[in-house]
Amino acid sequence: QSAVYRAGVYGHRPVVPVTPARLEEAARRRMSTQGWAYVAGGAGTERTLAANAEAFARHRVVPRQMVDVGRRSLTTTLLGRELPAPLLLAPVGALELAVRGGPGRAEPPVAAAARDLGVPMIISSQASTPMEETARDLGHSPRWFQLYWSSDDSVVASFVERAEAAGAEAIVVTLDTHVLGWRTRDLDLGYLPFARGVGIAQYTSDPAFRRLVEARAAGPASTVDDVPDQRPTLAAVRSLLSMRRRGATRGDVETFLDVFSRSTLTWDDLAWLRGRTDLPILVKGVQHPDDARRALDAGADGLVVSNHGGRQIDNAVASLDVLPDVVAAARAAAPQAPVLFDSGVRTGADAFVALALGADAVLLGRPWVYGLALAGADGVRAVVQHVMAELDITMALAGVATVSEIGPQHLASHGPCG
Ligand code: FNR
Repeated sequence: QSAVYRAGVYGHRPVVPVTPARLEEAARRRMSTQGWAYVAGGAGTERTLAANAEAFARHRVVPRQMVDVGRRSLTTTLLGRELPAPLLLAPVGALELAVRGGPGRAEPPVAAAARDLGVPMIISSQASTPMEETARDLGHSPRWFQLYWSSDDSVVASFVERAEAAGAEAIVVTLDTHVLGWRTRDLDLGYLPFARGVGIAQYTSDPAFRRLVEARAAGPASTVDDVPDQRPTLAAVRSLLSMRRRGATRGDVETFLDVFSRSTLTWDDLAWLRGRTDLPILVKGVQHPDDARRALDAGADGLVVSNHGGRQIDNAVASLDVLPDVVAAARAAAPQAPVLFDSGVRTGADAFVALALGADAVLLGRPWVYGLALAGADGVRAVVQHVMAELDITMALAGVATVSEIGPQHLASHGPCG
């Protein structure tokens, strides 16, 4: 914290804007139209996206005085590992849309920043870089792997095995995206990154996936090739060029679109995954207390309360609004199970509120992507440092010296000031 302020005192401009709205605006100007639409956009009319932000605005921290907070610490223990802060980098796919230079340029700077800070990186199933390369870039720094549960068991098993070999300390299974949300900005632009080979490197580098592509090539012609009179539109040509640039073939993309998700999953299926790995399994996308109970009963070790940053259901409930009830249900079912939170965290003060409402740690999403777009590894690092610095200041001014002390008593809504 003091380093951030001292830099300001000596006249250094921050690497990226500190004010969230300015950070966003600078990133918007830097990014391509499609990249910006994909990253910043939400589902439908983006009411959920707005609701996530509004939910934070409804909570008020109560300042406390004359508490000795001279020695403060953000360190947090999660799944047995001590972390520098209750903060992780949320899994973000198709990340190369945020950088110039295409594939291979997206994850390395993120891994470098995560490593410098010791903040865990949650590697996406839809990363633009194979997880083994990112694992190398991370050195000994913590990483988790985020799994989209493929419709093909062999791909799921292979992803989990690779994640274990790449040193992942947990598997985060994202449950809320078995069907892609109604993403209006992308639809208007006619732009789906994956259809152009963006964000499918985890698959194209996977042995089980390769076998599926080969089996498909040996089988009957695909339906797309069968469509008569399909004139190559400019978009189709661009698509093909984009795939080629990423070392993907049309077969890769079509196979990916076939196997990327499974809509038939039920809680009983979690036992299958539980039987395949000894790593802790967290389920991401929980928004209902019953789902929290069922996840933990089915063998999950923790939860991520999230609505995917408002990208899935429009008019969905804000994640922060369901957090207290989900935490209560989770604590009753499995008192030790960590409950993480994302969707709408923009500042350290937001992180404080999520922690006060019961989260054990928060995932930072879009803001670090904007930092990446603006200044690569330095930008990611700066964004995370800004959040950490403001969390530290908020703790100090709320009379809190350690993360575990933060609770509902620090919010006006839950105390005598409400
Ligand atoms: C995501 N998110 C996401 N989640 C996931 O489990 N796997 C993924 O590959 C992605 N990809 C992805 C791409 C982009 C561009 C965004 C913005 C988000 C969701 C992400 O992990 C997190 O839940 C949200 O970003 C949280 O919302 P905010 O705080 O970013 O608004």
